[in-house]
Amino acid sequence: MCIRDSVGTKRVRERDKRNYRHIEVRPYAPNLGAEIRGLDLAEGLNAEQFEEIHHAYLDNQILFFKEQAPIPPDIHVAIAKMFGELHFHPAAPGKDGYPEIFEIHAHAKSKIANGEFWHSDVSCDEIPPLGTMLQIHILPESGGDTMFADSYAAWETLSEPLRDMLDGLHGIHESEHIYRGRYSDRGMEDEGKVYPSALHPLARTHPETGRKALYVNRAFTTGIAELEPDESAAILAMLLEHAEKVEFQIRFRWEKNDMAFWDNRCAMHRALWDYWPAERKGNRVTIKGDRPV
Ligand code: SIN
Repeated sequence: MCIRDSVGTKRVRERDKRNYRHIEVRPYAPNLGAEIRGLDLAEGLNAEQFEEIHHAYLDNQILFFKEQAPIPPDIHVAIAKMFGELHFHPAAPGKDGYPEIFEIHAHAKSKIANGEFWHSDVSCDEIPPLGTMLQIHILPESGGDTMFADSYAAWETLSEPLRDMLDGLHGIHESEHIYRGRYSDRGMEDEGKVYPSALHPLARTHPETGRKALYVNRAFTTGIAELEPDESAAILAMLLEHAEKVEFQIRFRWEKNDMAFWDNRCAMHRALWDYWPAERKGNRVTIKGDRPV
């Protein structure tokens, strides 16, 4: 299925033709993502590998590191720190001994699994994470895929008059409805705690690529600040449906120890919990970004 812009022109994704010397970069799908091979993340990254990965990340929005061994937690944290200061989750507890690591874990006794609705990680924060690195160590026999969607394509395929209207408006991103009591089974009591909320531009300009992305998501965005409530509800519903169109999506089927690294500034994701009562477990580290503009 090809992506067309608002006047019906077929849209081809341009990828950088760069020759990578230290990693192998294979397009994951014509519209989004790349697989990375030829690298053992458990050994950490040197400066040349980092530079190529950074480039591939900006070019492809989501990287899938294949054929990996389990990455020791301190190395996982060190790799993430090469991309910037780390982000700490406002609600979830850290892994024992590693406060920077959020353990993604669902099993037979779980009442929830993380990321079941389309979202950009923690977009309710004033400064949401720029990117997330997740390695999955325990997988169900089948299922547990993660979907990703291209938020640049979502913005670029809106009609020009609509983009003109939306540019300069702000989405309301809230988290009380998501986080209250969510991690009580992991020992997190939250009485009296105030969960974050923030206003962010609907058209977010990526600080590194300069491209605009549609920055709304079904989990956290609850309205459009400058509009009347009925206008806000109708336009937000239309934008969410548009951002989740199947032609902007890919679906990643994990293999044990794959690591995914996604750019929250220009992509959304959704984790499928279709494997209950089986177990799925991994380590997630997020990197703090810039205030969205
Ligand atoms: C998340 O970080 O939203 C969870 C993603 C996943 O478990 O695949």
